[in-house]
Amino acid sequence: MDLFEINKILGAVLGTCLILVVVHIAAGSIFSVPEPAKPGYVIEVKAKQPAAKPAAAPPAPAFENLLASASAKRGEQDAKVCEVCHNLQKGQGAKIGPDLYGVVGRKAASVAGFNYSAPLKKHDGTWTFDALDKWLTNPGADVPGTAMTFAGVPSEKQRADIIAYLNTLSDHPLPLPK
Ligand code: HEC
Repeated sequence: MDLFEINKILGAVLGTCLILVVVHIAAGSIFSVPEPAKPGYVIEVKAKQPAAKPAAAPPAPAFENLLASASAKRGEQDAKVCEVCHNLQKGQGAKIGPDLYGVVGRKAASVAGFNYSAPLKKHDGTWTFDALDKWLTNPGADVPGTAMTFAGVPSEKQRADIIAYLNTLSDHPLPLPK
């Protein structure tokens, strides 16, 4: 192999490299087309219509409806947490919280001799089913500053059961909604 032939081979190799570099650069700028924000074509797919949609969504069951189907028996179980701080039976007196016998329909903060917090004393009203529902959802939100340091009962159904049970603890239980 003479020098001329080696030069030819080297030249060919170098040439190829050069072409590759040029193609690479060109490909970078020419072939990388920015993605359009919107596709040039949109295929419309008709959303499948849900069969027989009711005219209006049924309203969420009102608390009254839950009360109507509440179980005082389940409520008795769920009210065990209340008994940490409350007596529930007649004549047992206060614990950390006031006696809850007859609380449904009772005026708020009205047990004589119990040292209620100022915010609950100011919260004038009666413990109706709805008022109790709101209170038991989150006492601290219903009456900010209350001394009832209890997070609340998140389940609406459980609250209904508890309130139905509390209602039985009374000389005069109120009629539950039908
Ligand atoms: C950690 C103790 C604690 C627990 C648990 C607790 N309570 Fe109370 N509760 C209190 C205290 C203390 C008060 C008085 C609040 C105040 O004066 O602000 C109170 C007040 C009440 C009142 C108002 C009574 C009135 O005479 O106005 C009701 C109703 C009540 N609690 C129901 C319940 C129920 C139902 C439960 C269970 C789901 C429960 N509480 C769980 C401590 C507790």
